[in-house]
Amino acid sequence: QTVLHVLGARPNFPKAAPVVRALAEAGVAQEIVHTGQHYDALMSDVFFADLGLPEPVANLAVGSGTHARQTAALLTGLEEVITERRPALVVVYGDVNSTLAAVLVCAKLGVPTAHVEAGLRSFDRGMPEEVNRVVVDALADLLFATSPDALSHLANEGVAPEKAHLVGNPMIDSLFSALPKLDPAPVVARLGLPERYAVATLHRPGNVDSLDTARELVSAVLKVAEQVPVVVPLHPRGRERLAEAGLVPSERLSIIEPLGYVDFLSLVRGAALVVTDSGGVQEETTMLEVPCLTVRPNTERPITISHGTNRLVTPATLPAAAEKALAEGARTPSGELPPLWDGRSGARIAGVIARWLADGSR
Ligand code: UD1
Ligand code: UDP
Repeated sequence: QTVLHVLGARPNFPKAAPVVRALAEAGVAQEIVHTGQHYDALMSDVFFADLGLPEPVANLAVGSGTHARQTAALLTGLEEVITERRPALVVVYGDVNSTLAAVLVCAKLGVPTAHVEAGLRSFDRGMPEEVNRVVVDALADLLFATSPDALSHLANEGVAPEKAHLVGNPMIDSLFSALPKLDPAPVVARLGLPERYAVATLHRPGNVDSLDTARELVSAVLKVAEQVPVVVPLHPRGRERLAEAGLVPSERLSIIEPLGYVDFLSLVRGAALVVTDSGGVQEETTMLEVPCLTVRPNTERPITISHGTNRLVTPATLPAAAEKALAEGARTPSGELPPLWDGRSGARIAGVIARWLADGSR
């Protein structure tokens, strides 16, 4: 009875590591298949090293492409490998195309699936991830929710209550495990940053795929850089478009390659402010108590606003919001952290999976 984890893109890795570790402790046999959706060493290999993830048994090397081409390559590759390995359960993470393809393939092959980070909804079908979330949650057999709102969304969509489990956030388990290693000083020194700085990450298609939008965003980020030096570990998506829109290095703006997990979180830990459009970074800044301004019209992670340090901004409101956040520091409206974001989520997920395997409840 092997559990097979399908991983493919950067945000999958910190979500999977605690689940893999807890299942290993429970004595469950496991395999990892890497789809190769992300393939640069700084988008993939460094995470296996930083998070202590075991080597994948296969890398499907699907690479980049349009949604149709990439998903088609994922479907073909995953059908072959899952047919060959016949796992008892396939575990998928988050909302990327690799997640969608794995669940679709398994549904057709009759292989049960578990979705970690189920039920998050931005209610914005213009986001490719939202389409993936809705389809994945409609097909998965076990659903692991990170927050109470996510659990409610699943109930509202008709998911049987016995399939869904509120387990907290395994990405936060990874953050807790890394905490002793998160020291801003060496990264700050290596990058030649001053003591007070902001970090920005930008990669959402809605922000970086059109030159007009990218221009508005860049002009807002440049206004933030007038207030505090900004360092941007830049995702490969939209790199050229952002440069064309004026995101170029200057004395107050460092543009660097994506950072490894420990380096990135070290940098965030020491930052006065984070500006982002990432999903995971909204959660990590909440736990590290760093003010986070999310440049998006919505978020599937509203708990990072109600129970965290996150605020939604537009390019127009970003500069003033940055000024306020820099003056006030991190503020959490509820005064409480999200429930069950306690570093024990991997163990909860492994417990449910181990019971499920023992019951043979397929
Ligand atoms: C994907 C996810 C997104 C997630 C992001 C995390 C989907 C639909 N989107 O977006 O939800 O937030 O990962 O990082 O699954 N590229 C490289 N090297 C790499 C990987 C990508 O240069 O190792 C470049 C390629 O030009 C590629 C582009 O980035 O075309 C986009 O990659 P892709 O995996 O399609 O989507 P992301 O934007 O990374
Ligand atoms: N991250 C990283 N290096 C970077 C940028 C992000 O290690 O240069 C980590 C971040 O801490 C989080 C994950 O990557 O754990 C989030 O991935 P990303 O922002 O690519 O995806 P999203 O969460 O938006 O889907």
